Amino acid sequence: MNKMAASMVQTGEDAFRKIFKYYKRRNPPPDFSDVLDFSKTTLLDKVVAVTLNPAAVSDVEAATVGLQPVRSWRAFSLQGHPGFIFICNPFLPGSQPFWVRQCLKTYPQKPNVCNLDMHMCPTDTQDIWGKSLRGLSVLPSAKRQEKTLLERLRWVTLGYHYNWDAKTYSADHYTPFPADLQTLSVQITAACGFPGFSPEAGILNYYRSDSSLGIHVDESELDHSRPLLSLSFGQTAIFLLGGLCRKDPPAALYMHSGDVMVMSGQSRLLYHAVPRIVPAPQRHPDLEVDSHNLALSRQDGAVVESVSEEDWAVCSRYIQSSRVNVTVRQVLGPGQSFPQTSTDVKQTAHSTEEGQSGKRKRSETAQT
Ligand code: OGA
Ligand code: MN
Repeated sequence: MNKMAASMVQTGEDAFRKIFKYYKRRNPPPDFSDVLDFSKTTLLDKVVAVTLNPAAVSDVEAATVGLQPVRSWRAFSLQGHPGFIFICNPFLPGSQPFWVRQCLKTYPQKPNVCNLDMHMCPTDTQDIWGKSLRGLSVLPSAKRQEKTLLERLRWVTLGYHYNWDAKTYSADHYTPFPADLQTLSVQITAACGFPGFSPEAGILNYYRSDSSLGIHVDESELDHSRPLLSLSFGQTAIFLLGGLCRKDPPAALYMHSGDVMVMSGQSRLLYHAVPRIVPAPQRHPDLEVDSHNLALSRQDGAVVESVSEEDWAVCSRYIQSSRVNVTVRQVLGPGQSFPQTSTDVKQTAHSTEEGQSGKRKRSETAQT
């Protein structure tokens, strides 16, 4: 541990907040030497290898969603955090462009919900991609007066749409969860030992190079025995993984493009945050359109299709400076249903305490 980080931990008082601020700091920039990089072959004592279940997903099934055979995935956990699983980019070379395109072009479309819907009418947010193309092709954003809708996109919700104010999901705000992302999520969670995971809600966060995500725990889902899945594309994030108490000092790790994280079991409710986006280590070969991409599209039952050159020109420009994170959640356990709505609650006594219990604490959403 470098001296700066060590001295902050020793003071004891809200170590997470101090480390968050440390990594967020611009001037002087922080020392990144304590940030764990699972993509490096030399791993430290606190990193534990995780055995996955290759029998849960056939190689053919995995290839349809653009994943390598499960036996070749490199998966790790951190000592003291059982249930935390980090999978180093399990995607087949050339398949990430499809998922990036879905995140930028497809998932922001209606009926999904995005931050722009909060202050714009549905007709104006109907074709974020189409309405952004001209602006994006003219000049770099710094030289343009107005940002395109794509550049103003901060979050998209899928399935049971998360209500950021009430910090709840509800039965009456649901649209079908995208089938392709559902298949991908079911395969990854099955390989991690969670057969029967049901992707019901998704949150996409769009980070520019100066965005961060505050310290929070994802607890609004009603069944915490189900894992939470996280996928990252584009630029690298510094991810802080803390403990069950908000003040526990966190570990810092890099999340590169294609990396997958599963928070399950005792690690399902750990505090976490993203204090900083850093440039991807080098020009990422997996983010280039190449022959693998075309080969994948011809496979029987393929979910992953090839991305047109026009679409990729826009996507690759976007992710040169941005990061997209997708979290997939199961909200309800088998046979479980939502508690009474707030309208019902008003008519019922003694229900306010219970109404607080499912809260998802989040001090900041992805912000610039
Ligand atoms: C979230 C989240 C982390 C990330 O959306 O709840 O914690 O890596 N995202 O962006
Ligand atoms: Mn989270």
